[in-house]
Amino acid sequence: MSSKFSQQFLTAFRRWWKEQASEKGVSAAGSLLARELWDFLRDSTPARRRQRYGDMEYDWEHRVNTTSGTVGWRERLLGVFHSAYQPTDPAMFREMMTELPIQFDQFSFVDLGSGKGRTLLLASEYPFQRIVGIEILPALHREAEENIRAYRDSTGRGGQIESVLADAGEYVFPETPLVVYLFNPLPEAGLRRVIGRLEESLLKVWRPVWIVYHNPVLEHVVSA
Ligand SMILES: C[S@@+](CC[C@H](N)C(=O)[O-])C[C@H]1O[C@@H](n2cnc3c(N)ncnc32)[C@H](O)[C@@H]1O
Repeated sequence: MSSKFSQQFLTAFRRWWKEQASEKGVSAAGSLLARELWDFLRDSTPARRRQRYGDMEYDWEHRVNTTSGTVGWRERLLGVFHSAYQPTDPAMFREMMTELPIQFDQFSFVDLGSGKGRTLLLASEYPFQRIVGIEILPALHREAEENIRAYRDSTGRGGQIESVLADAGEYVFPETPLVVYLFNPLPEAGLRRVIGRLEESLLKVWRPVWIVYHNPVLEHVVSA
């Protein structure tokens, strides 16, 4: 194991443990850890890996690599403590965008936890002013950058996309009208930090913000 990976692993684990143990108690956090690690091992079998390749259609069409099938074991293990990378289904993304009653060219799109950048590419089908993805894992952020380059070369679109390597909990939002996209990027404590930052930003510069929350397992945090 490289020392860089060990460092990332320890930092992610310590933070996860501190948050889970203070939220749920030590024994519940221990059981959750055992469950998560068991899921990680189960997901490492060749059959499960083949299943993760099931979402390759978008990649074939656009000559990019956004599937979760090619994510290495290190990023998958770190995903246990951040959140596992899983790209949004393109049809579902377009359905969600269709529901937004906004003039896209007045808004910036921000994906918190953007992984390999599939939603950033999809968002460029709409005339957003800026498209920004925030990703905590360096390897996924690098792949997002490669995908953005490949997508620009093959479609001529996506000039307004950027991928930023950062913790979403520390992100300072652009002071424009926003569409904030969430697809299970953070555990509860992290999501509270993000929403707190968004509130602060809104109190500073009041503007329309739409939160698009895909698979809203922590909806209570956002609605509160
Ligand atoms: C379920 S994936 C969603 C990927 C992408 N948004 C999409 O819909 O295609 C969640 C992503 O959030 C990232 N993530 C987890 N914690 C994060 C944090 N604190 N800051 C930034 N990204 C984070 C994970 O590494 C993962 O790539």
